[in-house]
Amino acid sequence: MDKLIIQGGFSLNGDVTVSGAKNAALPILCASLLAETPLHLTAVAALKDIDTTLKLLAMMGVKVVRDAEKVSLDASDVQSFEATYEMVKTMRASILVLGPLLARFGTARVSLPGGCAIGSRPVDLHIKGLQSMGAAIHIKHGYIQASTLHLPNRRLQGARYYMDMVTVTGTENLMMAASLAEGKTVLENAAKEPEVVDLAECLNKMGANITGAGTDVITIIGVEKLRGATHNIICDRIEAGTYMVAAAMTGGEVKLHNARADLLDAVIEKLREAGAEVKVSLAENTITVKSNGKLKAVNIRTAPHPAFPTDMQAQFMAMNAVADGVAKVTETIFENRFMHVQELQRLGADISIDGNTALVKGVTQLDGAIVMATDLRASASLVLAGLVARGETVIERIYHLDRGYEFLEEKLTKLGAKVRRSN
Ligand code: EPZ
Repeated sequence: MDKLIIQGGFSLNGDVTVSGAKNAALPILCASLLAETPLHLTAVAALKDIDTTLKLLAMMGVKVVRDAEKVSLDASDVQSFEATYEMVKTMRASILVLGPLLARFGTARVSLPGGCAIGSRPVDLHIKGLQSMGAAIHIKHGYIQASTLHLPNRRLQGARYYMDMVTVTGTENLMMAASLAEGKTVLENAAKEPEVVDLAECLNKMGANITGAGTDVITIIGVEKLRGATHNIICDRIEAGTYMVAAAMTGGEVKLHNARADLLDAVIEKLREAGAEVKVSLAENTITVKSNGKLKAVNIRTAPHPAFPTDMQAQFMAMNAVADGVAKVTETIFENRFMHVQELQRLGADISIDGNTALVKGVTQLDGAIVMATDLRASASLVLAGLVARGETVIERIYHLDRGYEFLEEKLTKLGAKVRRSN
């Protein structure tokens, strides 16, 4: 199993380019199933989850061609409408093929994702939303069996659907399904994440008629067919936020390129509150973070966009672990997203948990140790802690990191970190 070995104590300085967003690419890759002609995508990051999705789509019969610059997906001859348990258990976002398969082919058999380290992760809202559009859905042997063959023209019917929880992939699945449905669909209490907006922009380039993405009411007027298009994936705001925290904690000056500050208001606000200097250029899509490494503890409460993102909670927990003062970190999205706490404690962090709130008392110095990655963002928080811990930190099971951070050790090394991978 690959490990990451970090020598702590080096400040980060220089330039880093942010990759395309994993959580925008995943639904957009699945959207290729909706089109009769090829979809061409640029800025698709080289990540494990992206590879898994491309493999899943290829297994269905999508012709996937990938070079250094772009990924092309041709779904003109899809043969299989199934996402098996073996595929879905490695990446729960495979659920994102459900809406497109049902909308274009009228049938889908997708394994229930099951839970993961951070929570039970149900998909009941995806299912209820599709049922509101007329889909017949049965859960059998751990699979979602969905069909529209009983409907007029075998087409989903537009509907008004209120999601009683804000769900990012739920919004995305239903938006994709509705784009080929008969009539108008209105999704209420929709997720407003930038990745939802990027998917809507790509679908509209493909001929969809979607308005309201980025607000909590999204209206989709169904069309007969969708065609391929060319789309550049939005930058990864969580990768950007992670490097911003790394710069703030290690006490350096880092300029991020391909970094849209308008996607990171809550994170920038908290970094400034902690005492880091953050300069943005919306014109150049750059964010520069400068810090002397002496930060104040900041309270964090996660919530749907544009509030503080749950995907940045673990990273700020690491920052608070070495900040001056005491901070409360409250996780409101997932029921078990504190797996990084016991690993941070191994590094000497002073954290106590009470329900969905962690109390973090900053310590003057963490000590390197062997720690274990448990999920993607928890792993990122261990890397951040290792960058400032005294001596050597070894992070095991870093396949979690490879799911969401493109060229991590190369990017960190270029900024001055002492990090290497070993197996
Ligand atoms: C997306 O997951 C992201 N993944 C997650 O990023 C992110 O943490 C999450 O949104 C929240 O922002 C992708 O986009 C691929 P949700 P998703 O549906 O869509 C409950 C990362 O690190 N819920 O918005 O699965 C659910 O249990 C990953 O990159 C239901 O109850 O999250 C959770 O408590 C981790 N029923 C809350 O809603 C449903 O049908 C939000 O989940 C769906 C969700």
